Amino acid sequence: MGLAVIIIGIQFFQPFRNQSEEVTATHIESLYTVPPKAKAILVQSCYDCHSNNTRYPWYSRIQPGAWFMAQHIEKGKKELNFSSFGEYSIRKQRSKFRAMAGQVKDGEMPLASYTLIHRNAVLSQEDKQVLIEWFSTMEDSIK
Ligand code: HEC
Repeated sequence: MGLAVIIIGIQFFQPFRNQSEEVTATHIESLYTVPPKAKAILVQSCYDCHSNNTRYPWYSRIQPGAWFMAQHIEKGKKELNFSSFGEYSIRKQRSKFRAMAGQVKDGEMPLASYTLIHRNAVLSQEDKQVLIEWFSTMEDSIK
């Protein structure tokens, strides 16, 4: 009974929702041409935590899941935010591209705790290839 009250009670405390459709001037898509294939994968598997626009599934309203999600978003954006990529120096952008390729290659990203629930964010071998190739091309081409 006590637990039920707590579970119902915490439903009223919803964290800030990270939702902005705006494609800002510093958005990676405003700065660089993102090939459609790579963009689709980024939207599907990375933007939820690394941009200002998270697509929330219905169950994200249910606590305590929403808090975990909010924490991932806060930490994820601090490390890498595609919506404000242009605020990084070129040097930093290059090192971010290198880090992205590394994280994807090592299977570190997207976070396993996320893909456990968001099955459609799991990267196929082909997805990884597309991303890694584009990340590497970017790292080599921007100066
Ligand atoms: C569930 C949220 C989530 C998703 C989805 C996600 N990330 Fe992350 N990412 C994080 C968090 C949180 C961190 C901070 C470090 C940590 O906790 O591991 C991070 C860190 C990173 C870093 C390290 C930044 C640095 O400078 O070292 C890179 C690169 C990265 N993510 C790339 C990606 C890419 C590429 C994708 C999509 C394929 C992705 N992430 C998907 C949450 C996420």
